[in-house]
Amino acid sequence: MQKLPFAPDAPWLAPLAGYSDLPFRMLCRTFGAACAVTEMVSAKGLVFGGHGTTRLLTSDAGDTPLVVQLFGAEPDIFDRAMPLLLERGFTHFDLNCGCSVRKVNKSGAGSALMARPAVLEAIVKVMVRHAGPGRVGVKFRLGIQHGEENYIELGQRLAGHGSGWLTLHPRTAKQLFGGSADWSAIGQLVRAVDIPVLASGDLFSAEDAARCLAETNCAGVMFARGALVDPMIFQRLKDILAGRESAPRSAQSLAAAATLHIQLARNLDGTPRALRALRAFLPRYAKGFSGIRALRQAFLQCSTWEELETTAGRIATLCESGEPMDHADFTDGCGTADGKVT
Ligand SMILES: Cc1cc2nc3c(=O)[nH]c(=O)nc-3n(C[C@H](O)[C@H](O)[C@H](O)COP(=O)(O)O)c2cc1C
Repeated sequence: MQKLPFAPDAPWLAPLAGYSDLPFRMLCRTFGAACAVTEMVSAKGLVFGGHGTTRLLTSDAGDTPLVVQLFGAEPDIFDRAMPLLLERGFTHFDLNCGCSVRKVNKSGAGSALMARPAVLEAIVKVMVRHAGPGRVGVKFRLGIQHGEENYIELGQRLAGHGSGWLTLHPRTAKQLFGGSADWSAIGQLVRAVDIPVLASGDLFSAEDAARCLAETNCAGVMFARGALVDPMIFQRLKDILAGRESAPRSAQSLAAAATLHIQLARNLDGTPRALRALRAFLPRYAKGFSGIRALRQAFLQCSTWEELETTAGRIATLCESGEPMDHADFTDGCGTADGKVT
């Protein structure tokens, strides 16, 4: 069985509800992502056969190594969901303990699990029993709120239960995406456990990731919002770590990436739904450039794949705005629980 890559120069694509679908994963792999995580998938949806859930599991021979991320709050549901995934050939899994959107937390899932460590641990034990030790990761935050940080103790216990790795987004659940990620907590977790720790949080550029690696000594990094505005961020990090000159984010390279994204979505999916999703996604590549508002309107009017490609070509003509990039427009954090593009 394939081993997952844990190394500074093996950056992962983070789970991104509404975004980390098969075409985007393949795009990021083209640009150096060493591993990718699916959008979060409802364990309950799997067991009760939701149509949206099946779509989220769409994969492809080249889509490897792949980690399926699950969310849920009931160990017995995971007990029924895991065999279904193993039957379909999936080998590595992640438990979402970081999502802080109300819709997910209401059912006790996502970051709400950090308030009920016994349930969280019971779910991980079920997942490990089915998948085998080392094949289950947990993605979590510092704790529910400041003063209640339990990531160290939890991390140690999860490692003891056979978790293969931990991913820390070092904010509290209450913080959502506010304030800044506390990378020093990643360093503390690295020192406290003997399994790989992946860093997530405010990795908006390859330089951020290189700094985070140096400051925390973590096993690797996971790009999330940084990859949504620059899918070439993976290659850039590899270049920096290898001491190679890293080409800057440019309008021309982003236009080329957007065009490739369209081709992948057309070939791997091709549905009107996929086309509509791209209309909202593609303008993100033009973040930090002047004229993005008009471009967003133009994308919204596209009704064919050809029109999307023509409009993507326009990104190459944009000039940098010189304004600092705002990453806080994902105010709802995890997108939506069913993976709908928000
Ligand atoms: C649009 C969006 C969707 C996300 N979906 C998920 C998800 O499905 N599962 C998860 O564990 N985290 C999810 N996250 C959190 C990211 O994986 C990541 O931990 C977080 O964005 C912090 O990294 P960043 O600051 O570098 O973006 C999502 C974040 C965003 C912005």
